[in-house]
Amino acid sequence: MQPWYINAVFYQLYLRAFNDSDNDGHGDFTGLRQRLDYLEWLGVDCVWIMPMYRSPLRDDGYDISSFYGIHPTYGVLEDFQMTVEEMHRRGLRVIVDMVVNHTSDQHPWFQEARRSKDSPMRDFYVWSDTDEKYREARIIFLDTEPSNWTFDPLTGQYYWHRFFSHQPDLNYDNPKVRQAMLDIFKFWLEMGIDGFRVDAVPYLYEREGTDCENLPETHEFLKELRRFVDEHYPGRLLLAEANQWPHDLLPYFGNGDEFQMCFHFPVMPRLYMALARQDRSSVVQIMADTPPIPESCQWATFLRNHDELTLEMVTPEDREYMWDTYAADRRYRINLGIRRRLAPLMDNDRRKIELMNSLLFTLPGAPVLYYGDEIGMGDDVTLPDRNGVRTPMQWIDDPSAGFSTSASPYSPIISDAVYGYHQVNVQSQQLDPNSLLHTIHRMIATRKTLPVLAKAPLDWLHELPLSSMCFWRRSSEGAVLALHNLSEEPLAVRLPDGTTFTDALNPDGGPCQGEITLGAYGYRWLVPSS
Ligand code: GLC
Repeated sequence: MQPWYINAVFYQLYLRAFNDSDNDGHGDFTGLRQRLDYLEWLGVDCVWIMPMYRSPLRDDGYDISSFYGIHPTYGVLEDFQMTVEEMHRRGLRVIVDMVVNHTSDQHPWFQEARRSKDSPMRDFYVWSDTDEKYREARIIFLDTEPSNWTFDPLTGQYYWHRFFSHQPDLNYDNPKVRQAMLDIFKFWLEMGIDGFRVDAVPYLYEREGTDCENLPETHEFLKELRRFVDEHYPGRLLLAEANQWPHDLLPYFGNGDEFQMCFHFPVMPRLYMALARQDRSSVVQIMADTPPIPESCQWATFLRNHDELTLEMVTPEDREYMWDTYAADRRYRINLGIRRRLAPLMDNDRRKIELMNSLLFTLPGAPVLYYGDEIGMGDDVTLPDRNGVRTPMQWIDDPSAGFSTSASPYSPIISDAVYGYHQVNVQSQQLDPNSLLHTIHRMIATRKTLPVLAKAPLDWLHELPLSSMCFWRRSSEGAVLALHNLSEEPLAVRLPDGTTFTDALNPDGGPCQGEITLGAYGYRWLVPSS
């Protein structure tokens, strides 16, 4: 039996944005429970909940001020537990975000640590008399942070942070930090969750003369974490957020003894590049550069998430191309990326939105959907940071969007003429069998009947024009011939002689054989039937 996550479809959900049951303007666990019918209907297997811990919310919860509780606007611990139980009752799994690299500067550990150089908690963080150390470590939040060091006037020393200056990095050289983190994992695993998306894992240790990423010490701790989870909570999932090249990602799988899953960051921008250039080459190349991973491991693939569409894993020329193409309006640019949702990136062209989703579902890996993208939600560029892609979920055609009747929701609800709740909402799309939502629903259901799509090798039809992405996925589990046309021009594909195919997404459409033609941005999932 293969582990559950290998052929799972994930749904990333921002709790604050999902559904507000008490109308305080913030989504909450009770609100999520009220929407589980929807997630069950959609057919996803596992929900990833973004950080729900106590936090000043200066980085939407990735700045944790207490690891042992729920943010008060989200409910109390019992609400969380009830939600997990209810999800399990419905056959849904749930993983939660865990931020291991840093805390909020409001965390009592840091508050205590910064009080004096002799504080017993001082060593929980990384301090220095100068800001000269670890100069080879890049700055990640380029737009806002001038340095990875921030001076703390109280004690006259600098503290180390890879992200915002209000997120001091924990000091993993301190065994007490490592133990504290294991205790935190234990606490949440005891709640019955199915695993974690582990945030920002490459940066746990610092060593002079290195870029302070992917260090052997970091892998050593992550392996210890996995051993701990396996020993006490076998079968739970650890999914790594490590925005790295495939060869640097491989060690995060270890020999199947570190993370079971890692996001495949480099393939994501290349899907957008391939579509814009009508040229599959960069995707073919990155998939060729993607090494095989252990049997028990899987890639997590995605089109968008809560962060900017990162362009860290492309060349400077390709980055310029992506910015020019998808963020000509400079307000859409942030750090090394683009702060837009899928539908606007595709100019709301339904054909392209479907095509990108079809690629997500048929290339190797387990797809992760970002809440709201299944209905083609838009973004709000007037909001700061990455907030524009974290607006409230649009449930119904009502000024509250069915999200919250609060007069002051945590974020404005998108209300423009194209992407506003009036045009784009779950209810109207559920009622319309031709909606994007129904298409995504069908892709999810169909994908589940084709387990070969999870891990089988990828065989490109190289003889077809570069403006196509056509490939076989074949193994002992079956075969799918996935066809994609990246251009407006019709694409003729000669199917292998003597083989008849069924279109898995449209089985009633009759058998296919001989030559078939894909229309503009068309796609087919063909299964040989003879
Ligand atoms: C991760 C999160 C991002 C957050 C950062 C710092 O990259 O995805 O949203 O800002 O970590 O915690």
